[in-house]
Amino acid sequence: MCMVIFAPLFAIFAFATCGGYSGQLQVSMDCLNKTDSNFSIAIDFAYPFRLYQVYFDAPLCEGKRRERLFLDGDFSASAELFVTTAVFAFLYSLLATVVYIFYQNKYRENNRGPMVDFIVTTVFSFTWLVSSSAWAKGLADLKEETDPDKVLQLISACRMKAECRPVQVPVWSGLNISVVFGFFNFILWAGNIWFARKETGWHHSGHHRYPLRSASEKQSSRQPYSQSSFEENPSFDQPMGGFITQHAVLGQQSSYSQVGSCVSSGPITFAGQI
Ligand SMILES: *[C@@H]1O[C@H](CO)[C@@H](O)[C@H](O)[C@H]1NC(C)=O
Ligand SMILES: *[C@@H]1O[C@H](CO)[C@@H](O)[C@H](O)[C@H]1NC(C)=O
Repeated sequence: MCMVIFAPLFAIFAFATCGGYSGQLQVSMDCLNKTDSNFSIAIDFAYPFRLYQVYFDAPLCEGKRRERLFLDGDFSASAELFVTTAVFAFLYSLLATVVYIFYQNKYRENNRGPMVDFIVTTVFSFTWLVSSSAWAKGLADLKEETDPDKVLQLISACRMKAECRPVQVPVWSGLNISVVFGFFNFILWAGNIWFARKETGWHHSGHHRYPLRSASEKQSSRQPYSQSSFEENPSFDQPMGGFITQHAVLGQQSSYSQVGSCVSSGPITFAGQI
């Protein structure tokens, strides 16, 4: 939860740098008959990088005749997985922020909020790792397929009738940054698993082994909880009350003190990671 400010922001960076990308490569063909030459054949491509749909017209160096050629490869799977992960991470972290700030009581109720947050955070950090790795691999292959030297091999006239050379390679900085942001998001979410786990209060579960202490904790903690949430939720069953109370209050006690430490230490921790 301490990452509330960073998570949406870095998710936006990830999907904006990848999803908003468009690149261009250029080659030049100098035919034996100069009038047929084309010195700047520009090939544009963009997210989601279905290169097999990207085409260009190259002179055949036989008068005005040309051939239409398509690039090779399809990197949409990894690119779309990456962007989808980023979009959902963005939406979830926004939602979590809203719930955390405006529905604090509902969030604490039954310890359900912290538990869901813990599970979802774990799933997201795993997804970030998988999608960033897949996208890093996809990007490496994309660079290979859009290498002007590789593209020139597709053009038949370059084999004998023309002198062909690369003019411009695509600018990759945007996509390189997207991969970096992907792995950074993984670190951010993986690091937050720890905070999310603290919020669940599970690290207090060791206390259950000591009945005396547990009982006294229950005794002292029943009061504040029954005032706040029990009145809002008359549907709570009495038999489960003790269990719920204990867990919820343990979560509450720990989190209120920890949110403070989290808020104060969180940004510093993550700033350190940057
Ligand atoms: C050279 O190729 C580009 C496509 O990249 C095309 O727009 C342009 O008309 C061509 N020029 C000539 C002289 O054929
Ligand atoms: C070069 O091409 C032009 C038209 O495309 C043609 O008129 C001319 O005869 C060609 N020259 C040679 C040497 O092939």
